[in-house]
Amino acid sequence: MSTLANSPSAKDIAYHLHPYTNFVAHEAQGPHIMTEGDGIYVIDDTGKRYIEGLAGLWCASLGFSNERLAAAGAAQLRQLPYYHNFAHKTTPAVVELAERLIEMAPGPMSKVFFTNSGSEANDSQVKMVWYYHNAIGKPEKKKIISRIGGYHGVTVAAASLTGLPYVQDAFDLPIANILHTENPHYWRFGQAGESEEDFATRMAASLEQLILDEGPETVAAFIAEPVQGAGGVIVPPKTYFAKVQEVLRRYDVLFIVDEVICGFGRTGNMFGSETFDLKPDMVTVAKALSSSYLPIAGAMISEKIYQAIRDESGRRGVFGTGYTYSGHPVCAAVALETLKIYEETDIIGHVRSISPHFLRRLHALGDHPLVGETRGVGLIGGVQLVKNKATKEMYDPSLKVAPTVMNLAVEHGLLIRALPNDSIAACPPLIITIGQIDDLFDSMGRALDDMLDALTKQGEAAE
Ligand SMILES: Cc1ncc(COP(=O)(O)O)c(C=O)c1O
Repeated sequence: MSTLANSPSAKDIAYHLHPYTNFVAHEAQGPHIMTEGDGIYVIDDTGKRYIEGLAGLWCASLGFSNERLAAAGAAQLRQLPYYHNFAHKTTPAVVELAERLIEMAPGPMSKVFFTNSGSEANDSQVKMVWYYHNAIGKPEKKKIISRIGGYHGVTVAAASLTGLPYVQDAFDLPIANILHTENPHYWRFGQAGESEEDFATRMAASLEQLILDEGPETVAAFIAEPVQGAGGVIVPPKTYFAKVQEVLRRYDVLFIVDEVICGFGRTGNMFGSETFDLKPDMVTVAKALSSSYLPIAGAMISEKIYQAIRDESGRRGVFGTGYTYSGHPVCAAVALETLKIYEETDIIGHVRSISPHFLRRLHALGDHPLVGETRGVGLIGGVQLVKNKATKEMYDPSLKVAPTVMNLAVEHGLLIRALPNDSIAACPPLIITIGQIDDLFDSMGRALDDMLDALTKQGEAAE
């Protein structure tokens, strides 16, 4: 048998169905196999080293070689590698993690329901919203409003919340009772002469109109990320959330804040809710909860919601939902250690001290001929690519400008992410240093230069 047919690449093409992958392209180009981690770097099977400019999938906050997390996982694996949380059972790591999360939560949360992924946590939020409204005798109040461009995961309910077409088209989604309101990207959707504040007023009015059109008695909840991540790194326009929250209060609509990317320091506070003054009824956390060393997520709920579902579980005999791995003790032990490291190393202080440099380098890319807008907060940034800065005309999607910049960055030792509507994102591990931030943006600048050269050669230069 030829060694080529037996290579990891050939075997991957033969047997592995990748998430979020074009299989036709995958069969042609094969996998990119990563074999090692070292701080903010990952190393592939050829020995090439890359800055992980997106912390994997916006998640590996402590980088890729934290010994304390490895040791915490190993110790729990040796002591009690698995136990469940059904029917009153639990483990010390889960008890302690729940306490810490509720203590640190943005706003007064009462309980946390553990899951394995952000999608499952948001799915559980949907179920709890519905269970809650049945419990309080409002079975007609079931609709959940999300936002176009919002990302909340890929399970059937979470993908319905996600406001991106490729997550829904051909999957027969969204399901019933999920609606989408406008995308608050001021640069793109602001009207001529409209101030950021006026745009925010219009976005909140549009949400209110949707609630009125549907009937407020049928609208149960609104879900939003503090900063929209996968939808393009959309930082909320000034006054947006204050105005949106006023609308939610007026119509008794619960606010689910999806902190899956923003939680645990990303925006310069422990939670994005603090950065943007959000008052959630329910909070979803995942990703940096364990620095992504093991899968764990949580759906937190307020006391008001807990009391209602508590009584309903009493009437029905059981709160009939939960996963085999809800509150897996090894994942919980690693999450606990992650939270301890955040505290002991003052990760928030570190983010605050380097964020101005990150944002300076990000915004400096605004001078590049291909860049129409840069947006960011804390250690998350988005770069909007355009053909014409003045008219904001974008390149024809068939030119795949953002995905090509992403591929060119690989040549320069940088992994970043292309997002919808020709933007690219940077969201490095929180442990990044000033010098490494310079390396990241130097490489991104080189990839943009290469792209501009290629477009110019094709007669598609930026205007
Ligand atoms: C804001 C947000 N919510 C939810 C999810 C889904 O999380 P998971 O991929 O762990 O299911 C993601 C994933 O990127 C996310 O960015």
